[in-house]
Amino acid sequence: AQTLTILGIESSCDDTAAAVLRQSGTNRPEILSSIVAGQADLHASFGGVVPEIAARAHAEKLDLCIAEALEKANVTLSEIDAIAVTAGPGLIGGVLSGVMCAKGIAAATGIPLIGVNHLAGHALTPGLTDEVAFPYLMLLVSGGHCQFLLVNGAEDFSRLGGTIDDAPGEAFDKTARLLGLPQPGGPSVENEARNGVADRYTFPRPLLDRADCNLSFSGLKTALMRLRDQIVAEKGGLTRQDRADLCAGFQQAVTDVLSAKSHRAMNIYMESAPADPLIAVAGGVAANGTIRAELEHVAREFGARFVAPPLSLCTDNAAMIAYAGLERFRAGKQDGMDMSARPRWPL
Ligand code: KG4
Ligand code: ZN
Repeated sequence: AQTLTILGIESSCDDTAAAVLRQSGTNRPEILSSIVAGQADLHASFGGVVPEIAARAHAEKLDLCIAEALEKANVTLSEIDAIAVTAGPGLIGGVLSGVMCAKGIAAATGIPLIGVNHLAGHALTPGLTDEVAFPYLMLLVSGGHCQFLLVNGAEDFSRLGGTIDDAPGEAFDKTARLLGLPQPGGPSVENEARNGVADRYTFPRPLLDRADCNLSFSGLKTALMRLRDQIVAEKGGLTRQDRADLCAGFQQAVTDVLSAKSHRAMNIYMESAPADPLIAVAGGVAANGTIRAELEHVAREFGARFVAPPLSLCTDNAAMIAYAGLERFRAGKQDGMDMSARPRWPL
């Protein structure tokens, strides 16, 4: 197989990203550059991502991100074999900004265009850092997603289950908001939880009575709100310790639910008797130390390897989009100028 150089573009949520990936033959692809321009500052005062502001910021930042990615990789557009762009799922305005930008470059240069499913990007990420063989089990846990995927091949996924309401990152963010902690909520809640006692307050473990791989997190937020209001009604406010205990209890509940459902997913996966069993995680929530340790523990119980890519690849980035695009391109696929943005696009 020849050497391929792919430009990746990602703009489906609140990060504008561009990356250049190169693969020689069948070697592990090399990330020549990966630029991520966040927008947290733009959305901070709104307590969440504002789609309209996100779309405008993407449109403004994309060109610069791409120029920077090319420069850092020390390649010119003439050396790019294909442009891979996130075509969904995500916020429609952001996805459109990226798709339009990619089409513009493709039209001007004649470079092939490839639309990539954002979730496929996350699901293939382990291959950027580790030797992985199909099938492997992927737990995708982010601010917008939560699902168990069997990754059977670069373009072959089976969904074993997922959240029926909030994503875990969303639950962390709402918890932080309810307790007056800074956004993004994940790191602040994890930080508070370090000084907390997890079993001082009782949180539910939703859906554990069901045998499937589906999860639910919205009840945790409701439970937290009720506990908070109860403490405030009794004592007039929350002490530092109350807040830490609430964070620890909440985090433990999320961890227990993910752990129990990971067991179920592993049971299904192991039925196929994989030669080199592997459980991988991706998404911002995979940064959580308690959750990560528990998933490592589950992997050990099944005699499976555990792969958690570095945080820069776990969270939204364009290297994973370039990689998913590279696989599609190697499979002989590409998209035309009529490619549309798909805000909803299940794997
Ligand atoms: O993957 P990501 O960067 O963006 C998408 O949602 O696509 O994930 C961001 C989410 C946020 O909800 C954030 O609160 C959560 O990941 N997160 C964490 C931690 N770090 C980030 N959640 C729990 N513990 C953490 N340490
Ligand atoms: Zn994502």
